[in-house]
Amino acid sequence: MIDPVLNLLLQDLRQSSEHALWLVDENIPADLCPARSGLPVVGNRFDLIQALRARGWQAQFSDFDLSTRADGSLQRIIYRVSKEKPVVHYLINQAARLLQQDGELILLGDKSEGIKTYSRKAQQRLGGSREERKQGSAWRAVLTRGNHAGEALDDQEYCRLRPLELDTGAPYLTKPGLYGWNKVDRGSAFLLEQLPAMLGQPLPLCGRVLDLGCGFGYLALNACDASTKLTCTDNNAAALYACRENLAHRGLRGETIASDAGRELAPGFDTILCNPPFHAGFGIEGDLTDRFLEQTRRLLAPGGSACFVVNLHIPLERKAQGRFARIRCHADNGHFKLIHLSQAR
Ligand SMILES: C[S@@+](CC[C@H](N)C(=O)[O-])C[C@H]1O[C@@H](n2cnc3c(N)ncnc32)[C@H](O)[C@@H]1O
Repeated sequence: MIDPVLNLLLQDLRQSSEHALWLVDENIPADLCPARSGLPVVGNRFDLIQALRARGWQAQFSDFDLSTRADGSLQRIIYRVSKEKPVVHYLINQAARLLQQDGELILLGDKSEGIKTYSRKAQQRLGGSREERKQGSAWRAVLTRGNHAGEALDDQEYCRLRPLELDTGAPYLTKPGLYGWNKVDRGSAFLLEQLPAMLGQPLPLCGRVLDLGCGFGYLALNACDASTKLTCTDNNAAALYACRENLAHRGLRGETIASDAGRELAPGFDTILCNPPFHAGFGIEGDLTDRFLEQTRRLLAPGGSACFVVNLHIPLERKAQGRFARIRCHADNGHFKLIHLSQAR
């Protein structure tokens, strides 16, 4: 069944204009979008931007960097609300700057995604009128830019990279817009603690190492040093930005590359570290785990191994069958399990 919010969105996407902009986060299935439109797109997910480009869209991949666009330069902005509040607040604030007077922000979302509250807040911020249409639980709100914009919404200083202070060790640079931006992931901490035993070698890792779905780089930063041939990859623009800055601050010589589960990378890695996502937008996508496993199979060098951490309920071992020479559960702590996948020499 087609997502009812998408039904509403598709109607807006058919009307294009060069003075309009579509802001895209992770919650849009690109294959359901119409092919080619004059509507420019900015989005923070590499897979989606690639898919839209392949369908003829003029799509830009960035952490919603709208700084080159002039104040009051747009007539219309279309945006399906994101999952994270700071992202939504940041983009509503940007709309207040970018829209010309009487220009429209079209906000779409489901009731369960907080659209009612965002619509109200956006009206205060833009200082104009509000018109809402509902189709079941899906909402479409049109907010106009009035004469006087209201107070900025709290976006937690969306663009600012800041240190995540912990009890021990050097801080990590992080920012809103990347998954779990203000904490260390408990699964990743478990993987790191067990990594030497899992691989039968001390840290730092040597050879070619890939941090697949790197976030701000927690696994790479702790498992590698300046001698490691390190590659970090993620689908999310904010994660890539934070990770690149962290590597530079810690003196690691890694490359940071945008990719969809590693699809764009060349094979030959001795070790792959991965805490894969299992949420895509507002849904849970089984196929995402398959994409990560398939690319891991392709990217590992002969004799190489991959260390995954996943929630206990993810059937990673079953999904890995037929793709690796050896599949072993190294440990579980009641919440997460560590899976060691290796290839024959
Ligand atoms: C559970 S987090 C782990 C982050 C980091 N490795 C850590 O240990 O803290 C999963 C990461 O996968 C990334 N991700 C989601 N979908 C992806 C995709 N299709 N390709 C690459 N990375 C993706 C997310 O942006 C997120 O950074």
